[in-house]
Amino acid sequence: MSPDSAPNTGTTAAPVTEAARYQAPRATVDPDTTKTWLRRAMPILRAHRGIFITSLVLSFVGLVLQVQIPDLLNHAIDNSVQHHTVPLHFYVWWVLGLGIAGGIAGYVSRLFLFETAYEIEYDLRNIIYEHLTRMSFPFYDRVQSGQLISRANSDIRSVQMYMTFAPMILVQCSIALVAFGFMLSINVPLAFVAMATMPFVFLVGHAMRKSMFPVSWLIQARLADVATIVDENVNGVRVVRSFAAEKQQLNTLASAADKVQWGYVKDADLRARWTPAVQNLPQVGLALVLAFGGYMVIHGTLGLGAILAFNFYLLMLQAPFMMLGMIIMMGQRAAASAERIYEILDEQPTIVDRPGAVDLVDCKGDVRFEKVGFSYGPDLPLVLSDLDLHLRPGETVALVGRTGSGKSTVARLIPRFYDVTGGRFAVDGHDVRDLTIESLRANVGVVLDDAFLFSVSIRDNIAYGRPDADIADVEAAARAAGADTFIRELPQGYDTVVGERGYTLSGGQRQRITIARTLLVNPPILVLDDATSAIDVQVEQQIHDALRVLMEGRTTLIVAHRLSTISLADRVVLLEDGHVVADGTHAELLETTPRYAEVLAQADPDAAAALEVVERNGSDPGHRVT
Ligand SMILES: Nc1ncnc2c1ncn2[C@@H]1O[C@H](COP(=O)(O)OP(=O)(O)OP(=O)(O)O)[C@@H](O)[C@H]1O
Ligand SMILES: [Mg+2]
Repeated sequence: MSPDSAPNTGTTAAPVTEAARYQAPRATVDPDTTKTWLRRAMPILRAHRGIFITSLVLSFVGLVLQVQIPDLLNHAIDNSVQHHTVPLHFYVWWVLGLGIAGGIAGYVSRLFLFETAYEIEYDLRNIIYEHLTRMSFPFYDRVQSGQLISRANSDIRSVQMYMTFAPMILVQCSIALVAFGFMLSINVPLAFVAMATMPFVFLVGHAMRKSMFPVSWLIQARLADVATIVDENVNGVRVVRSFAAEKQQLNTLASAADKVQWGYVKDADLRARWTPAVQNLPQVGLALVLAFGGYMVIHGTLGLGAILAFNFYLLMLQAPFMMLGMIIMMGQRAAASAERIYEILDEQPTIVDRPGAVDLVDCKGDVRFEKVGFSYGPDLPLVLSDLDLHLRPGETVALVGRTGSGKSTVARLIPRFYDVTGGRFAVDGHDVRDLTIESLRANVGVVLDDAFLFSVSIRDNIAYGRPDADIADVEAAARAAGADTFIRELPQGYDTVVGERGYTLSGGQRQRITIARTLLVNPPILVLDDATSAIDVQVEQQIHDALRVLMEGRTTLIVAHRLSTISLADRVVLLEDGHVVADGTHAELLETTPRYAEVLAQADPDAAAALEVVERNGSDPGHRVT
């Protein structure tokens, strides 16, 4: 590495990360569920009413300007071309001027309209995301958050489209009244003849959308299926390859792609059927105008220019009337989308601060489960029952038990990811439901076996819980976690960006970064769930060294599968079917509880051999396995 490309790992005291420039939405959805979906969404539109109304007004002005043009043409042909009473250039300049002014108004109006649309989209997305971040874990157990987000995207779009484009289409249709007024002023009977086709244009437009919308829905859903399969292929590539299941995956993808193709062909078919009708309806109108108007011109009751003007009016009104049919479909779709969005927004987080909750200050780290009962849902069986467990300040307790015995569940109760269903869970003598969640979680550090890292630099990953930490602190935490050496060997050192799940790093390396992340926050209570699973013995040793540093002076609950992990603890608790069946030092449990040795042997085959050695040597109290 050349010196000038060296990462800035000096001891500057600048904060590691910049505070995000998040702009909270100016308004939110009306929580009153008795209102219609549109009225509930209105506050968001109202927050941007300035540019939205300007956009509508400018659109109207632009149309009013354009509507003058056919009338000018009428007069130009009659007065300048036929009768030479007015110089032709007078009309030419007027038409040009109106065209340019109308164009500018139309441009600004469109710009503002799209701006409003994307502002609404931004707000809705943030409102939903903000809500999701507040939701409690039981909610995430029920829903698939990935699908939630991707579905939200298309729903947000259809709501946003309807809220902004529907009023715009109405404005454009309202110009029909002005145009009709002009037509009436030229010739009353011909005005009615010309407008006669408009209801049909509306009906055809509506019928076309109605037959095409289900197909476009279908295409969207099937495209999502394809995206899911591709996503799984990419993320699960190791599984696919290891089972040599590429063919099978390709078949799955091909059948999903076939379904998309069917949708597109159906769509093209419908389009091909409707297009002639859509294109020829205006010709019918033009023919009617030509027949009636021409007749009147021949008999001298109408000027030649009038026919031309009417043609222009007809063409000008086609698009808005077509779109009017579309509004109805857009409305139905937006209503369905809005309902789905509200379904998320109307769900309230279940784990919240109760009124009058107090902050946990000067946490000593006394953790106590008293006759705790717990189930993941009202209809689900009890996972914990009558669980009593006391962790004294500064003590390290290993939690051991068969798979499914409820170890992770106990760990999840400590940061109050879930609330107990019976009994009481207290920190420093306070029931956690009387404490503010923020202060509780600030005092509880959690290291999970799924060492999740964000797609940012290692430095930012370590500083995640304390973005204001300076670089020296980050490095100190990394050193304590035994991560500093390997981080420095990476091409960009602390600035190395790790992949979505930290794929560029090994499991043990990721684990040590998550340990550094927790160390930096320095919480008095620590929860480690399977923190050293799936790691080889040598790396495990390094992690244990890091863990020893981490646990020092803290109350720690460590879920342990291996003897080596248990060796880190002062005390061992054996969990069976959701309650504590034995509690003591490793040696005591070996002596008094045969079940303990069985569980250990099952969880850690290597331990079985070690245990035999222990048994052969006779139990020696206080002996700690290493
Ligand atoms: N989010 C959840 N929703 C519903 N049930 C759950 C949930 N998480 C766990 N369970 C159930 O609770 C029981 C205890 O699970 P837990 O994860 O606490 O076991 P564990 O002791 O950590 O097991 P392991 O050693 O395999 O990690 C299991 O029967 C499991 O099926
Ligand atoms: Mg577990």
